[in-house]
Amino acid sequence: MEFHHVPVLFEETINALAIRPDGIYVDGTLGGAGHSSAIAARLTEGGRLIGIDRDGEAIEAATERLAPYADRCTIVRGNFRDMPAILDDLSVGQVDGILLDLGVSSHQFDDGERGFSYRTDAPLDMRMDTRQSLTAADIVNTWSEKDLAWILKTYGEERFAGRIASAIVRARAEHPVKTTFELAELVKSAIPAAKRQTGGHPAKRSFQAIRIACNEELAALEEVLDPAVKRLAPGGRMAVITFHSLEDRIVKNHFRTAENPCTCPPDFPVCMCGKKPYGKNVFRHPVTAAEGELEENPRASSAKLRVIERLPD
Ligand SMILES: C[S@@+](CC[C@H](N)C(=O)[O-])C[C@H]1O[C@@H](n2cnc3c(N)ncnc32)[C@H](O)[C@@H]1O
Repeated sequence: MEFHHVPVLFEETINALAIRPDGIYVDGTLGGAGHSSAIAARLTEGGRLIGIDRDGEAIEAATERLAPYADRCTIVRGNFRDMPAILDDLSVGQVDGILLDLGVSSHQFDDGERGFSYRTDAPLDMRMDTRQSLTAADIVNTWSEKDLAWILKTYGEERFAGRIASAIVRARAEHPVKTTFELAELVKSAIPAAKRQTGGHPAKRSFQAIRIACNEELAALEEVLDPAVKRLAPGGRMAVITFHSLEDRIVKNHFRTAENPCTCPPDFPVCMCGKKPYGKNVFRHPVTAAEGELEENPRASSAKLRVIERLPD
């Protein structure tokens, strides 16, 4: 299957990274190299792009797309939560820019075999990295009712989390839930008919929740943000594109802490903790897609871009 993914907030992100032709850039979510090929095209021989993705198919597609710039690109299959170790292994110290374009690619979503979508019948998989052992089926068939309800409510913001979790537990007592269609049907049947009409497909939020849990998406983001910002050279920028409020809140809070890391009680007349700002938000509010992009790419409707610039120590 050909790799298909239209990058969101493309111009906005590339402009915000203010790419220097001889700089070192890290794309932690390489995908189909949509953003990365624009970064690589702006680099001269002295510049370097390090592209990371945990998905083998993305690595394959990106390697092909970046072939014209192979002399300045290093492609690594790995998790961006390990970015500091990946950079250490490549003997790279400070970098000039970092990009994270979170979530799944259209390719992952549209590939019927990967089990990310409630629209195609497939084994319940949802692993971005197929070398990982935990699958969506393991979560659905082995996690406790309490844990299932928690992820559905927290990661899916699903009002009917409790009812869905108990429907799953009842169904799996008969036989394991193995496919996307079985799960989608179970979720739908647990939501009262009158409430199924709003908010898109009734299984959308549950699938999002199980995908986030399966890939530990929020934990990876929490883990990488601070070390990544601290890895930037002074003046270097980190751009993060998020697709739902949970991710955006994490990015907003980390970037806010970089701007004001002081932990002194608010009534202290002077700072005693000694923690100095190490970043500055480039935009006061997150950048969202313009009308034209929204018309062409529905994925862009929930996208938010935040950018931080590293301050000198
Ligand atoms: C939205 S797509 C990125 C698309 C890319 N910007 C482009 O223009 O083609 C997200 C990609 O990030 C990868 N990804 C998500 N979380 C990751 C993680 N923690 N570590 C490495 N890759 C990750 C996914 O496998 C997917 O290929």
